[in-house]
Amino acid sequence: MITSRVKELLAQRIPGYALSQPFYNDPEIFDADMDAIFYREWLFAIAACELEKTGSYVTHQVGAYGIILVRGADGQIRAFHNTCRHRGSILCKSEKGNVPKLVCPYHQWTYELDGKLIWARDMGDDFDASAFGLRPVHCREVAGLVYICLAHTAPDFDDFAELVRPYLEPHDLNNAKVAVESSIVEKGNWKLVWENNRECYHCGGNHPGLCRSFPDDPVIAGGPDAGIPDYVQQHYDRMAALDLPSQFQMGPDYQYRVARVPLLPGAKSFTMDLKPAVTRPLGHVKDDSAGTLLKYHYPSTWNHFLPDHAIVFRVTPLSPTETQVTTKWLVHKDAVEGRDYDVQRLSEVWNATNDEDRRVVEDNQKGINSPAYEPGPYSAVQERSVMEFVDWYIQAMTRRSRAVIMEVA
Ligand code: FES
Ligand SMILES: [Fe+2]
Repeated sequence: MITSRVKELLAQRIPGYALSQPFYNDPEIFDADMDAIFYREWLFAIAACELEKTGSYVTHQVGAYGIILVRGADGQIRAFHNTCRHRGSILCKSEKGNVPKLVCPYHQWTYELDGKLIWARDMGDDFDASAFGLRPVHCREVAGLVYICLAHTAPDFDDFAELVRPYLEPHDLNNAKVAVESSIVEKGNWKLVWENNRECYHCGGNHPGLCRSFPDDPVIAGGPDAGIPDYVQQHYDRMAALDLPSQFQMGPDYQYRVARVPLLPGAKSFTMDLKPAVTRPLGHVKDDSAGTLLKYHYPSTWNHFLPDHAIVFRVTPLSPTETQVTTKWLVHKDAVEGRDYDVQRLSEVWNATNDEDRRVVEDNQKGINSPAYEPGPYSAVQERSVMEFVDWYIQAMTRRSRAVIMEVA
């Protein structure tokens, strides 16, 4: 809920400056963030390839909501609240698995994979099973990426999907598998995780492995407002000639962005030796100097799509000062570990980068927790994208706080 105190704090925000302390550690703001952002927006959940066949499921927790994503007999992926319609027990207790039906562990009410209740013992002749199907969660797929939305009425998804689909399709994510994944908890507010992700001001001093391949040029993915450097525009044009959409594009309110940017000269992938990490590539990107397709979508995901593999990141707030960051490295489903790729070599750069980011985010959080903290100015050269993130956040919160007043009125 967006309380009057939260509204006052939103109104007091100074553009161009970091947010005030409560935005980074106050439980009331955290609750408002969950209500107004994470329970309202589309959230990246999984790669579709994670649900390999009929009955494959994964569970995911977003704040108070437990969610099941399951592939039905018709091949479609659906999402449901992980709570039984009898007396509310959770249905799926594991993180992932494969089941013929969804059976509640408590009294064995049994649901079809499309959520219909098909069996409930001794409920009487007048029991209407059709009224007790699992409660659905909005679920959409775009080019092999599955998004969910917990809102009663979901915001538009089509504009985003139409924009990113042609960029993603050459990467053929439906023929991928997860080669390795990691999940870490950063002891920092989810907005600090994002602010850190949205700039490379910190890269030179903190990411020796990543900086072998990834340029820390602040305008490399900054778009027309920041000025697109000639070498980047030339890259966009060269890739477009290969039928690889690459030009920087952004949602109207900064909520999402795509751009295929070059890596440093000679770098083919995010590896320590700069060579491809996988010899059986994922997708149809024939040019191994295509760089990385950058995509983000607030508030839950940033991604890298390379000529040989892809990396998807998911951001899930756990508390005012704890955020889970889950990373999955996707390779071609027929790539064989030990022959076509080595897990350590594939994941070492971003495992190290994630850990380095965890450290700077945690240091940032500790300093902000001091009563002496005062918001400082962002660099217009280096932190334009951070300002855009904060602008998106403030606008989304302000819009929702007004909507609440109108609903009440
Ligand atoms: S709570 Fe699920 S069957 Fe009773
Ligand atoms: Fe970083």
